[in-house]
Amino acid sequence: MLYIGIDLGTSAVKLLLMDGDGKILNIVSKEYPIFFPKTGWSEQNPEDWYLQVIEGIKELISGADGSLVAGISFGGQMHGLVILDDNGRVIRPAILWNDGRTSKECDYLNNVIGKDKLSEYTGNISFTGFTAPKILWLRDNEPDNFARIAKIMLPKDYIAYRLSGVHCTDVSDASGMLLFDVKNRRWSKEMCEICGVEEAQLAKVYESYEVVGTVLPEVAKELGISEGCKVVAGAGDNAAAAVGTGTVGDGMCNISLGTSGTIFISSKDYKVDDNNALHSFDHADGSYHLMGCMLSAASCNKWWMEDIIGTDDYVSEQSSIDKLGENKVFFLPYLMGERSPYNDPDARGVFIGMSMDTSRSDMTQAVLEGVGFALRDSLEVARKLGIHIDRTKICGGGAKSPLWRKMIANILDLKVDIIESEQGPGMGACMLAAVACGEYASVEEAAKSIVKVIDTEIPDKELVKKYDERYRTFKKIYPACRDIFSLL
Ligand code: XUL
Repeated sequence: MLYIGIDLGTSAVKLLLMDGDGKILNIVSKEYPIFFPKTGWSEQNPEDWYLQVIEGIKELISGADGSLVAGISFGGQMHGLVILDDNGRVIRPAILWNDGRTSKECDYLNNVIGKDKLSEYTGNISFTGFTAPKILWLRDNEPDNFARIAKIMLPKDYIAYRLSGVHCTDVSDASGMLLFDVKNRRWSKEMCEICGVEEAQLAKVYESYEVVGTVLPEVAKELGISEGCKVVAGAGDNAAAAVGTGTVGDGMCNISLGTSGTIFISSKDYKVDDNNALHSFDHADGSYHLMGCMLSAASCNKWWMEDIIGTDDYVSEQSSIDKLGENKVFFLPYLMGERSPYNDPDARGVFIGMSMDTSRSDMTQAVLEGVGFALRDSLEVARKLGIHIDRTKICGGGAKSPLWRKMIANILDLKVDIIESEQGPGMGACMLAAVACGEYASVEEAAKSIVKVIDTEIPDKELVKKYDERYRTFKKIYPACRDIFSLL
């Protein structure tokens, strides 16, 4: 049988076609626009996602027998607010995970309701990108839209809804709404009350590897697949990427270098750090995870390369970087504000340390290293919790760069396992579909038989030492700039 994995990303949707043995037969990518109506705001049109998904599936299976597609599942950008009216129509553009408009609502949730209460109800505190503060923003700023809400959903769940007609979500993605009791895997009555949301407006919650329904007859006909094709709940993109890289079970780590940058640690047990600096979410394998999320990772490099120095030749730009651990230039990668560990929507990008002999390549190096240092900030929080990690998988567009992988290995002092397919979320989505259709007994079993490590970047003691010193300097830059950010 065949399985389709839909990775509904921020800049594009990537679709993967996988056979029952875990072999990828085809990959298609389709872009859609992102809108920044005001500084720090970020929106997309759900209809754009859906149209590209439909076009993408047609292209994906054009050389295959569509009747063999047994299941479709998802890995989706998390936290985005999609609202539908009584007629199932989208009320306004989706407000995305990297949108920073909700500072006031987060202050209310974290300081008036209180972080302790939020953490007790959900395992998390409020960050600007999370869904609950967006609902409060809507209530106060667009009351007419708020009054029309019949259904609240997350980005990938909108696609599941259009394909199957079912209003569903999964535990990993629901975890990022701040309306969900992560420990007990159910909606939080308290949070619904605080946000003025009825449980009937929220989706039915599934485990990521559960079937939610089948493809609607008219959609099946348009796509040329069978009506029996199962739609499977899927996961938030980071949990899906973790499945796709075999980061399942206890104490495994995955780093994703996409538009966002995340460090994801799987855990059999529910854990919360003292300051809720890391997100405590449900995992797609039936357990839990901790995650640090930076809002701009590979997107910092893309911005620097394409918008600032005006090249898309990433390989040759990186080829002149050879003095690792010795760069005097530092970069704070907070182009869209920062989530973990600072929770500061006002934070911005900073270059510091340039002199007359600073070269373009030093600046490029600083951008790549800045992302590595910021990921280390989250790893340090996990280390303080007593979590011992000595190796990680890596995925996302940035993971294609051997230089960046080497920097990550040495800045974080982790062995970095490179896997055969770095298509994290799309791969994980295919695997969740295969598990739901009975091809594998569990997510762990699918990961064991499908995911293959093909190489490992081993940290070098000398370089780890040099980067450790650099990291100490990096850590002083944000506190020194914090007050200035709020003036900008
Ligand atoms: C995770 C997060 C991002 C988005 C990116 O909390 O906000 O990783 O899921 O798609």
